[in-house]
Amino acid sequence: MGQYGEQKYWEERYNTEQAPFDWYLRYQHLKPLLAPFMTDESCILDIGCGSSKLAEELYDDGKKNIKCIDYSANIINKMQDANISARPEIDWAEMDVKAMSFDDETFDLIIDKGTSDAILCGTDSYAQLSSMLKEVSRVLKKGGVYVVITYGVPATRLPHFEKEEYGWKVDKLTTPKYEGAPPNQVYYLYVMKKVSEEKEEERNDQEDEVAVTIESDAPPKMSSPGAETGASPSTNEGNGDENLIDFDPPPEMQ
Ligand SMILES: C[S@@+](CC[C@H](N)C(=O)[O-])C[C@H]1O[C@@H](n2cnc3c(N)ncnc32)[C@H](O)[C@@H]1O
Repeated sequence: MGQYGEQKYWEERYNTEQAPFDWYLRYQHLKPLLAPFMTDESCILDIGCGSSKLAEELYDDGKKNIKCIDYSANIINKMQDANISARPEIDWAEMDVKAMSFDDETFDLIIDKGTSDAILCGTDSYAQLSSMLKEVSRVLKKGGVYVVITYGVPATRLPHFEKEEYGWKVDKLTTPKYEGAPPNQVYYLYVMKKVSEEKEEERNDQEDEVAVTIESDAPPKMSSPGAETGASPSTNEGNGDENLIDFDPPPEMQ
């Protein structure tokens, strides 16, 4: 599975694969989960967009300020050509998520569906992921949200996401992999909300006043009890092949 961490693999794959493909979930499933974090005016970035229809479906749902990046030139050219007439405002760019050319604090919402998973399959994966997260934090507005949609269980993801240097607060949601799935068959959504200074002060004040529960932005119904017990951390953590065991591509991709 190390191949998923290599740019060459994606370039070749997108050269031959013609049909669009969405990893894990389509927009129709994600919409209620993403809705609290965006408005029609939000500036949205899809990192590692691939041939996913997510940006197109967001656009058709009224979100016109969307940028999509991928380090595969093949797929960016194809997506640009496919959308130039119908969705002219979507901005497609060939770019490495570890070195983005956007200004600091540009985006209200950054969506990562399967991209950090792919990076974690490569060599030197923890350092690569850390470079990516620094960049994501840099281009995310204060008060903005970075959402990671992944098969990765909390024990394999939270240690990467929950670092003070990124300046965000992490929440976790789960959603069934398919309708009627058992409780341990879930995808995870890690929701990183970048703390704005005033909000942080407000939060600290509230915490000082009374011991209150800080509400999650997540719709409670989407959390699936018992999900955390669904899988144990891979024994290959850190050697670049950590996802050999639990990388879980849809059957069509195997
Ligand atoms: C598992 S696919 C997910 C594609 C799409 N987001 C989806 O949900 O269907 C991972 C994507 O991330 C892209 N990718 C991986 N590493 C990247 C990087 N460093 N910079 C930009 N794109 C990257 C790959 O080219 C590929 O399109």
